[in-house]
Amino acid sequence: MKWLPVAALAGSAQAALRFGCSTLTVQRLDPVVEPGNAPSAHVHQIVGGNAFNATVDPSVDVGQRATCTTCLYSEDFSNYWTAVLYFRARNGSYKRVPQYPNAPSLHDGQKAGMTIYYTQESFSSNGNQKITAFKPGFRMTVGSPATNSREGAEKFHGLRYTCLQTVLTRGSETFELPKEPCPAGIMAIHHFPACWDGKNLDSPDHQSHMYNTGKGGFQVAASCPASHPVRMPQVAYETLWNTTEFNSRELWPEDGSQPFVWSTGDAKGYSTHADYLFGWKGDSLQRAMDSNCFFQDCGTDRAKGVLKVQTPAEKNACTIKTTVNEDIDGCECFQLRVDNRICC
Ligand SMILES: *[C@@H]1O[C@H](CO)[C@@H](O)[C@H](O)[C@H]1NC(C)=O
Ligand SMILES: *[C@@H]1O[C@H](CO)[C@@H](O)[C@H](O)[C@H]1NC(C)=O
Ligand SMILES: *[C@@H]1O[C@H](CO)[C@@H](O)[C@H](O)[C@H]1NC(C)=O
Repeated sequence: MKWLPVAALAGSAQAALRFGCSTLTVQRLDPVVEPGNAPSAHVHQIVGGNAFNATVDPSVDVGQRATCTTCLYSEDFSNYWTAVLYFRARNGSYKRVPQYPNAPSLHDGQKAGMTIYYTQESFSSNGNQKITAFKPGFRMTVGSPATNSREGAEKFHGLRYTCLQTVLTRGSETFELPKEPCPAGIMAIHHFPACWDGKNLDSPDHQSHMYNTGKGGFQVAASCPASHPVRMPQVAYETLWNTTEFNSRELWPEDGSQPFVWSTGDAKGYSTHADYLFGWKGDSLQRAMDSNCFFQDCGTDRAKGVLKVQTPAEKNACTIKTTVNEDIDGCECFQLRVDNRICC
């Protein structure tokens, strides 16, 4: 028999998922970095399944426990979250910046939320290698709320901002929050690493069980290293913050700085970070990665579909109880961070 390189046996597949998820909750909770803390250090916006809680033990199969999700693909009970963007007025008051429902091509009547991607080696190919789905209990983070320098931010290739001239602006990315008003808002982009050590569902820093060979954007990733040999789906988030009500120059700081602040207290943008908690039901994510379906066409309502879909109304109806009862929208008195109570 003719010898074939092992990778070739995986065959080529071109699957890529791109779908909208509406907001599940906006609260100071973080079951990955601060399990049990309610409130956690800073406010997060969370999309995905309703098993989300202050604590989600790694022994729990979220895909079995959750009963609804805010995402298009109804077998995806994962949770996806980032910090929240606020506008700081000249008088020192804060207001939460609204999120767009979704990327324009995915507008379907869902509430505000995020766009989620699961790609392979690149947008259009698995590079003839097996893409192995995450396992129940898997979680990871990218970026760090403690990053406060450009050098620190540059270590995370996949964390960027796009100043939206229109909602369709793509490609021009910065490490900092845009310094000028962006007519259609600010897109925050989070690409996760995709190479796994093959052993650990988590690690003490929630990052070292993974390794990033991505080069930013959706470019073709380099091969996974021997320390982290298993290629997983490349997960990415896009959150479109609708800043238009805050774009007038008279509202901006008189010193020429920009007025948007992450819930970490960071007005530069270097602290941008994101959390992922896997929760696809059964083999659904693996099924999708082994297929040739593309973006929202992976639904069983489409020709190549392998995943169950739900309606926007069903997404919007999925929610959880607010357990941290505090004002997260802005003033009167407002707990931006655990150590930073602001009264306007
Ligand atoms: C969240 O945790 C609380 C306290 O342990 C529990 O009472 C509640 O049922 C949990 N919610 C979900 C959705 O698992
Ligand atoms: C502070 O400024 C904001 C934005 O201009 C305004 O909405 C708010 O009412 C002001 N708060 C006070 C106490 O003046
Ligand atoms: C963005 O915000 C503006 C001002 O509040 C609002 O008129 C507009 O409808 C929002 N756009 C979207 C797509 O939500």
